[in-house]
Amino acid sequence: MKVLVVGGGGREHALCWTISGSPLVDTLWCAPGNAGIAQDAECVDIAADDIDGLVAFTVDNGVELVVIGPEIPLVLGLADRLQAENIRAFGPSAAAAAIEGSKGYMKDLCARYDIPTAGYGRFTDAEAAKAFISERGAPIVVKADGLAAGKGVIICETIEQANSAVDDMLSGNAFGDAGAEVVIEEFMQGEEASFFVLTDGENVLPLASAQDHKRVGDGDTGPNTGGMGAYSPAPCVTEDIATAVMDKIILPTVAGMKADGTPYQGVLYAGLMLTDEGPKLIEYNCRFGDPECQVLMTRLMSDLVPALIAACDGELKDFDLRWFDEAALTVVMAANGYPGSYDKGTVINGLDKAAKIAGSLIFHAGTATNANGDVIATGGRVLNVTANAATIGEAQERAYKAVDRIEWPEGFCRRDIGWRAV
Ligand code: AMP
Ligand code: GLY
Repeated sequence: MKVLVVGGGGREHALCWTISGSPLVDTLWCAPGNAGIAQDAECVDIAADDIDGLVAFTVDNGVELVVIGPEIPLVLGLADRLQAENIRAFGPSAAAAAIEGSKGYMKDLCARYDIPTAGYGRFTDAEAAKAFISERGAPIVVKADGLAAGKGVIICETIEQANSAVDDMLSGNAFGDAGAEVVIEEFMQGEEASFFVLTDGENVLPLASAQDHKRVGDGDTGPNTGGMGAYSPAPCVTEDIATAVMDKIILPTVAGMKADGTPYQGVLYAGLMLTDEGPKLIEYNCRFGDPECQVLMTRLMSDLVPALIAACDGELKDFDLRWFDEAALTVVMAANGYPGSYDKGTVINGLDKAAKIAGSLIFHAGTATNANGDVIATGGRVLNVTANAATIGEAQERAYKAVDRIEWPEGFCRRDIGWRAV
């Protein structure tokens, strides 16, 4: 098969690494890819949000399966456009990707189908939003409705803070159009976990659990990021919790979306809060988590490609995937300054030495190769140093051994990835 992966981060490197190992695949492209992906796939210089460019490439080259990594092309309708050309696209339609693209849509879906989540209101009018805030009290959570690169959520300790978050968003100053509507939510308490399933719109295949570290600093301090590290499995997601998540959250969502006439096909990522009242949904994403995908892919024993095809073709019923018992852990190395501003173009050395640590693997996120052939940093999150071992503790030890062989003074990482589990 000829396969195209869309995206250029660590998630897409992990997907390309997995897909390139499938005996079903003879040509693998990645658009736009990065310096690490170039070792597993042929990189094509088309941006992940260039829908016309991606469709044209796919048609011109006879691509048979397109695996869409990030949310933006999904929300922009890439899967719909490919389906119209009779090309298999792994990932939801634009209508179904609204589960991530519009928090208000997601919350209304939960309300319609009785899916446990934080109580909420949707507002476009600041006065109405503030009345709701004063009625509910603080702490309270204010969210921009649309995509805001993971930054559109403000946990407010006081009513004043919540009111000013509403003003910032609705004025269009904070997140542009994404903030033209706000969702205001009850504050939930508990441990967070990520839960992933594949679905063909009707049948659901649970993958594995994982935990992410969203804050930039050790001990979960500092501003939120796209994710500074992850591990799988997440010990807090016991079998009973996984069953509850499937029965109360995932299955009603998939059935509800089908009943609504917007069936969801692809990977569905539930961000969960494990509360005293049981698991509740924080948010849905219409794609794999990054860096959660990196740990999932290294734990997967089965070939991923038949599962992706089965999801596209509505044939996931009775499908099975096998997993290694070993745990996996990934440490994100980011450019100094991230998630604020940071330098680009700094040179990274020692990657070969690091990769020699047994059981370790380095996925690239924001990297490129310069004219001298050096690997350089081109983004905020740059490398995902991943290791597998019998326990999360051993995987952590291996991952940091590999990290310590990387020579990149302009980069940093958290030193405590996996602390909850170790
Ligand atoms: P989201 O982008 O919706 O995942 O939100 C980012 C982070 O904000 C989550 O990972 C949670 O830590 C936190 N968060 C979002 N909504 C709530 C809520 N209703 N209660 C408590 N924390 C929340
Ligand atoms: N790691 C969080 C995300 O992918 O949204």
